[in-house]
Parts: sequence; structure tokens; C-alpha cells
Amino acid sequence: MKLETINNNIETIVKEKQALLQILLAVQDASPENYVSEDSVNEIAYSLNVSRSRVYSTASFYSAISLKPRGRHIIRVCINAPCENAGKQEILAVLEDQLGIILGQTTSDRQFTLEGVSCLGACYASPAIKIDNTLYGDVTPESVITILQEYRKEAEDVDCSAS
Ligand code: FES
Repeated sequence: MKLETINNNIETIVKEKQALLQILLAVQDASPENYVSEDSVNEIAYSLNVSRSRVYSTASFYSAISLKPRGRHIIRVCINAPCENAGKQEILAVLEDQLGIILGQTTSDRQFTLEGVSCLGACYASPAIKIDNTLYGDVTPESVITILQEYRKEAEDVDCSAS
């Protein structure tokens, strides 16, 4: 096989993977439980005419994709060394205490899931956390409590306007 053909094949595979990832992210964003269900995997595989295992393997490969139901808001705590050294343990303890869950769990009201990630790309502002798509740098135990209160208030406002 010619080098050009190999390169073209690699390019095609990379493009397909990126497209599948974008689809998985869009499906996950549209899910009220922030995940890609088995039904969705089947539909994606059918629509793209690819195997279910291909969709599953892509979904499993990327940490941004969940195959299990999660809370409405995903709180990601950086657990890498720079954030660790800047007080991550204290931040995590406050989050776990405030939410009543530990890393990897979802609150019983399904509002929050707490996840650990290896870096949020905000090492300059350690310790950092991310809630959904919003990054919070240089957080302190106090500021984390205030941030959580804002999300809880927003959830109450949504519930009130829905009832
Ligand atoms: Fe924490 Fe990079 S190490 S954001």
C-alpha cells in the first residue's frame, strides 16, 4: 500500500472518530440525565451504519462521555499534582460534605455528579473545578460553597417556575 493511501486512510478514520465523538457529545448534552443511553448507542450505530461496538468503544474511550446516568450538573475536580498542592483535598472535602456524596457519585435529587479529572487546563489557577462548561479557578472552600448555593438557587427557581 502506498504511503499516500495509508495517510488518506488514517485521515478518514480520524475524521470519522471526531464526527462520532461530536455526535455522542450532542446526544449526551440533550439527555436530561447527562449520558448516552443504550438506545442512543443503537440509534447512532444504525444511523451511521457502523457497529454498536464501534460506538461503544468511542464512548468508553473519552472521559467526557458517560454511559451511565448522571446529575443535571457535572462538577469536575482536578486531581492532578498542581491542584493537589494548591489545596484540592480541602476543596474536595467541602464539595463532598455539601453534596453528601463522594467522588464518582450523584446526589439523590440527581442535581449533581462529582467527578475527578486529571487536568482542567487551568493549572495557572489551581485549585480549579469545572461545573458543566464553566471553569472556576483559584477556588477556596468558601467560594465553592457560594458557587454551589448559586446552582442550588437556580435549580429551585427552575422547579418553582415549572410548578
Ligand atoms: Fe489542575 Fe491542571 S493540574 S487544572
